[in-house]
Amino acid sequence: MKGKAVVTGAAGFIGSHLCERLLDEGFEVLAVDAFTDYYSPERKRRHIAACAGRPGFTLAEENLATCDVARLIDGARCVFHLAAQAGVRKSWGKEFARYIESNILSTQRLLEALRENPSIPLIHSSSSSVYGETRMLPMREDHPTVPLSPYGATKLAGEHLCELYRLNYGITYRALRYFTVYGPRQRPDMAFSRFINASFAGKAIDVYGDGRQTRDFTYVADAVDANMRALRYEGPMTVFNIGGGSRAALLDVLDVLGRELGGRLEVRFVDRAKGDVTDTWADTSRARDALGFKPRVSLEEGIRNEIAWYREYMKSSEGGGLSS
Ligand SMILES: NC(=O)c1ccc[n+]([C@@H]2O[C@H](COP(=O)([O-])OP(=O)(O)OC[C@H]3O[C@@H](n4cnc5c(N)ncnc54)[C@H](O)[C@@H]3O)[C@@H](O)[C@H]2O)c1
Repeated sequence: MKGKAVVTGAAGFIGSHLCERLLDEGFEVLAVDAFTDYYSPERKRRHIAACAGRPGFTLAEENLATCDVARLIDGARCVFHLAAQAGVRKSWGKEFARYIESNILSTQRLLEALRENPSIPLIHSSSSSVYGETRMLPMREDHPTVPLSPYGATKLAGEHLCELYRLNYGITYRALRYFTVYGPRQRPDMAFSRFINASFAGKAIDVYGDGRQTRDFTYVADAVDANMRALRYEGPMTVFNIGGGSRAALLDVLDVLGRELGGRLEVRFVDRAKGDVTDTWADTSRARDALGFKPRVSLEEGIRNEIAWYREYMKSSEGGGLSS
């Protein structure tokens, strides 16, 4: 075994894929997740089921905002911190308390525990949402960070906390700013997931705004690969854009989806959601040069994989479809 890797948010979309990759590479994995009800906890249990029973895998059902974090990271070789309250649109109003708890307080508690063990590297999941609405495209790590949503503000706070624990206590961290991750197990609130679900249910697809907004789509295996590369990196840089290099407008994605699903999609345009930026586009040259990061999966292939996963998941859900 290569040592103990702690993965927080391990039962989530990206975290569950990362756990599989770590086990494949011979790590012992301590998977931490609170199974929050932002979307179906049952669905998360199925995400992580692929790891259960594999040698070296342990699941800890714990909330980072309240649990004994020092105990979790005891003896760890590295920590991958993916636990978060995700989602831009729900981050307004009273739900914000959840964002503070999972994105700020939980990160601070993890950093406090790492303070005693500053040599354990932390690979922190951040987000393109820290940039906010900008005309400076493609987005570069040294561009201004002015989030447009409460979610983005909490993800930026997470990055700031990592940096101030580095400055004060010498902890080692890498923050990965993911750009719209997709693929099998994608969260049900995310666009592709909603589109595929609506199309299979024979319902109209709701597109926020006019559909011309662009996103830099990142296949989940590429995001996972960035985590592995960030772990191996020993240089001085701390923040990296992780984008898939598949920048497309939502309308173009619908064309691809329509082709892959073999039918015409019924689209309904609804009001643009507050907090959603117009465009994202990652300059990934830093990740390429420093980490050797190179996205490998095209949008067409990635969408095909997500649809194939959805079909299988539907079959094994006794016709109940995907619960959100
Ligand atoms: N999916 C994307 O496109 C995307 C883009 C940018 C950034 N990110 C970031 O990547 C990470 C993973 O995102 P995801 O899409 O897999 O989300 P997800 O919601 O599927 O996974 C997050 C997991 O964290 C768990 N969790 C939440 N609060 C917790 C707490 N206090 N203690 C323990 N566990 C807790 C949840 O139960 C969930 O299983 C998050 O940090 C997110 O902000 C994701």
